[in-house]
Amino acid sequence: MAANKKLLILPGDGIGPEVMREVRRVIDWMDRRRIVTFDLSDDLVGGAAIDARGTPITSETVEKAKDADAVLFGSVGGPKWDHLGFQMRPELAILTLRKELDLFANLRPAIVLDPLVEASTLKPDVVRGLDLMIVRESTGGIYFGEPRGVETLPDGQQRGFDTESYTTSEIERVARVAFELARKRAARVCSVEKANVMMSGLFWRQTVTALHQREFADLELTHMYADNCAMQLVRNPKQFDVIVTSNIFGDLLSDLASMLTGSLGMLPSATLGAPDASGRRHALYEPIHGSAPDIAGKGVANPLAQILSFAMLLRYSFDMNDEAALIERACTNVLASGLRTADIMGPGTARVGTTVMGESILRELDKLAA
Ligand code: NAD
Ligand code: IPM
Ligand code: MN
Repeated sequence: MAANKKLLILPGDGIGPEVMREVRRVIDWMDRRRIVTFDLSDDLVGGAAIDARGTPITSETVEKAKDADAVLFGSVGGPKWDHLGFQMRPELAILTLRKELDLFANLRPAIVLDPLVEASTLKPDVVRGLDLMIVRESTGGIYFGEPRGVETLPDGQQRGFDTESYTTSEIERVARVAFELARKRAARVCSVEKANVMMSGLFWRQTVTALHQREFADLELTHMYADNCAMQLVRNPKQFDVIVTSNIFGDLLSDLASMLTGSLGMLPSATLGAPDASGRRHALYEPIHGSAPDIAGKGVANPLAQILSFAMLLRYSFDMNDEAALIERACTNVLASGLRTADIMGPGTARVGTTVMGESILRELDKLAA
């Protein structure tokens, strides 16, 4: 039995703690079954940390995250903290973790599970069998670029500005992750930017092209403007294998892609750093959705994106492929049995809340492991 895998759990705000509770039960189940025992700790982030400690994330929490083998993150933010201003945003918790741990590659898989083909707002034939990987750069671009601010102009009006910026190494390291993933998949990478409008977009295209020629010429590389990509994702998403793109375009396109799978509540993610000499790397796992203030506290949130993020954690941080597949299978089987949270309801299915969905997955795990 493997032990001493250090896992830091950061539930955050809104539905974060609600969906994280269901993952905790999966973790307890694995412990009871002696499949794996984690050295678990948890901490406050986001609005919860602002309320308790006056800051969205403390340096102690960042240190704990650096020390952990993997971090499982919920979601942060909500209207309660809107009035505190830009420097006290709950969202700084996740941005700080990505930056401080240098988690530059955010993997966002959009996979359409068979039982959910009808849950997408798109026609079944368009999404059936979809298995797409969006690799989103996550420590650079306009999210972190300087200068940024709001200034007063000589004529008295104000000007707000941010900076989109990418260096050669920032582009190469995330593109390399995309190419390496593609090599184990359908060997196709589509690099997405707006080289027709943005200098940084043109530079992105040139840099990815040069890297491809140098190291990955065996793979197919195509380029697409981000606006066209948004359209193509809705028109014919199965044309894509791996998409690699900047921080902000990846944010937008992955929310869009989530609806191909049925709901924002279905999409997990892994955010990875570079491996060190011993092969160890920082890694954080989180659903792509936020704290969903409109449904928080109602017990109706879909816990699957959070649970599937935990499955990604097992796969990417601990090489526990069988155990990850077991959890994914349990999720698919429960959906196939007709249970649905509100966001993925369809005709002839039974509506359940967060807790019943979690319990059903545990029962299914019991069956699969029997
Ligand atoms: P959101 O993702 O929280 O919600 C968008 C819509 O999707 C809402 O209608 C919500 O009810 C629904 N939804 C999201 N997750 C769901 C789930 N698991 N089950 C069922 N329905 C679900 O986006 P938003 O409303 O734009 O943002 C709310 C807050 O969350 C903001 O403060 C935002 O900054 C923050 N946010 C945080 C993260 C993060 O912590 N990683 C990610 C995205 C947004
Ligand atoms: C996401 C979120 C975050 C982002 C916010 C909360 C900072 O939308 O993880 O997709 O924009 O990266
Ligand atoms: Mn987002």
